[in-house]
Amino acid sequence: AVAAVRARDLAGRHVVISAGGTREQLDPVRFLGNASSGRQGVALARTAALRGARVTLVAAHITEPVPSGADVVRVGSTAELAEAMLALQPTADALVMAVAAADFTPERVADGKIKKDGSGTLELRLTETTDVLAALSASGAGPAGQVIVGFAAETADDEAHLLELGRAKLARKGCDLLVLNNVSGGAVFGSPDNSVTIIAPDQVVLTASGDKAAIAHRIWDAVVGIHS
Ligand code: CTP
Ligand code: CA
Repeated sequence: AVAAVRARDLAGRHVVISAGGTREQLDPVRFLGNASSGRQGVALARTAALRGARVTLVAAHITEPVPSGADVVRVGSTAELAEAMLALQPTADALVMAVAAADFTPERVADGKIKKDGSGTLELRLTETTDVLAALSASGAGPAGQVIVGFAAETADDEAHLLELGRAKLARKGCDLLVLNNVSGGAVFGSPDNSVTIIAPDQVVLTASGDKAAIAHRIWDAVVGIHS
């Protein structure tokens, strides 16, 4: 009975999930990027669709197949991610930032391939990208009760340290929920199993472990439960 109640609890809701990893172009053939597969974001999209939501997946270079039943918007850089997410925000009941967004972008993109100059070094000047999660949280655009969710992978000594880092990050971002992951000494990237702590500004909402689908369901449980 409980599973049946939960099964369609996102019906009538529009959820927007960012997934994968953004890339910042250095020259015509090179970029700064990261190894995020997009697996957690894709699991969020699939489970939200199962629970009845209309799903938009904002995909940055994901290597996972896109789930059927999700609309897909492809983005490359963090600037494109910002543009897509802010454009989708007005109709979103929930926004989930599972993407690994590049924090820095080259001050300028070289017109031609960067060449070795014989000096033995290369200096790149980078500037900070838009903090998309903070921008979404500050904007306030969207339906009443919109829930904004961030992710944070931290290297913490223990659960108390993890919570301390998480609380500071959540306050800095201004989001409603933060999904915290302790990555010290653990192989999380590309791994099928995971363990997370979900926090709100004033409380630890829940902890969950399991595969990415199980974690995704618990994240939607936290989103659904935020107003109850
Ligand atoms: N994020 C974002 N825009 C960025 C960087 C990160 O929206 N330019 C989002 C991520 O998608 C994630 C959350 O912010 O949901 C936290 O990312 P994280 O890298 O942990 O936070 P940063 O503020 O970049 O801090 P750090 O210096 O620890 O990397
Ligand atoms: Ca970062």
